[in-house]
Amino acid sequence: MPLPLDHPLITSLSADSQVIKAYQGIRTSYKPVWMMRQAGRSLPEYRSIRAGISMLDSCLRPEVAAEITLQPVRRHKVDAAIFFSDIVIPLRLAGVNVDIASGIGPVLEHPVRTRQDLENLRELDTDALLPITEAIKIVVAELGSIPLIGFGGAPFTLASYLIEGSPSKVLPVTRSLMRNDPQLWHDILSWVARTTSTFIRAQVMAGASALQLFDSWAGKLSLDEYVTFAAPHSKSVMTSLSDLPVPRVHFGTQTGSMLTQMRDVGATVMGIDSDTPLDVANNILGGTIPLQGNIDPERLSGSWEELKLHVADVIERGSLAPSHVLNLGHGVPPDTDPDVLTRMVAFIHGE
Ligand code: CP3
Repeated sequence: MPLPLDHPLITSLSADSQVIKAYQGIRTSYKPVWMMRQAGRSLPEYRSIRAGISMLDSCLRPEVAAEITLQPVRRHKVDAAIFFSDIVIPLRLAGVNVDIASGIGPVLEHPVRTRQDLENLRELDTDALLPITEAIKIVVAELGSIPLIGFGGAPFTLASYLIEGSPSKVLPVTRSLMRNDPQLWHDILSWVARTTSTFIRAQVMAGASALQLFDSWAGKLSLDEYVTFAAPHSKSVMTSLSDLPVPRVHFGTQTGSMLTQMRDVGATVMGIDSDTPLDVANNILGGTIPLQGNIDPERLSGSWEELKLHVADVIERGSLAPSHVLNLGHGVPPDTDPDVLTRMVAFIHGE
């Protein structure tokens, strides 16, 4: 589908940005950087705008979501904005009773575990996404040539919240449903794939210049399980979005053993977590795809000298890939000193 004529990639506003070029495999001497969870709790201005507003409400108030998206761009001078929202927003907008408990994560009153639960789910209506597209229009008008990155949760990660009902490190209910009722499993994941895909498409059509699919918990599966139970649904998301002329980043944690399978669902850029050095990831992927990552978030609270050495090492290893967008290996920890982030961005930019 062609993008609207006023989309920043079409007006060329963001088309020549360093992040989009690097995502397209074009390497320049400039080193572009943005950070996962840059829009969030490490910033005092975020905590102040969020006072008295629940997490999901803040995502659904266009002025608030737009302002939070822009805060880290102004402060840190990063090269891209990530849209402030959450992977569970499309579930909520499709009528699922999900909330985000502070310090815990997504919780559901009625997890989806039976055929009847699945039949009660509605399709996500594009009209319900109006608060999202309104926020994006405000953001891209402010960003000018800086690209906005849209995102969604991959079906496996999103379904694990839907089925489990609360965050879990071992996903017992999810794994047992997957093994014991594969037909129901695949039907639930198909619904999730359609829902997350609708959410991402709306962000791109409204002005996002790239998309990132987060499969944060994919690394909890064995390679065989990933290929059988998760990858086909991630593939259906990526395929359904492949008519949009935007880069497609795919990211998961502890996924060093499944990088090629994750690429093969239709990614055009691979996000790498801190467990796999970029030179190793590049070797696994055959040197064929731009990489994003993977500064260790834990180093942000260590000494500045060691952080600089670590960032230089990430840049060095990333220089072997076709192109490289600097990022963290996972999100910014909430207790990070924002001045360290600003300084790190300046260091990467060679200032
Ligand atoms: O800067 C950004 O990255 C912007 C937006 C963003 C958020 N969540 C905001 C948020 C993005 C891209 C996400 C994605 C997301 N949400 C993922 C995938 C990325 C990852 O971290 O692996 C996942 C798994 C979720 C689900 C979720 N939402 C969790 C596990 C939590 C943490 C719960 C907590 O309080 O510790 C959230 C809440 C959340 N999403 C916050 C933010 C800024 C914190 C909310 C707060 O201020 O209390």
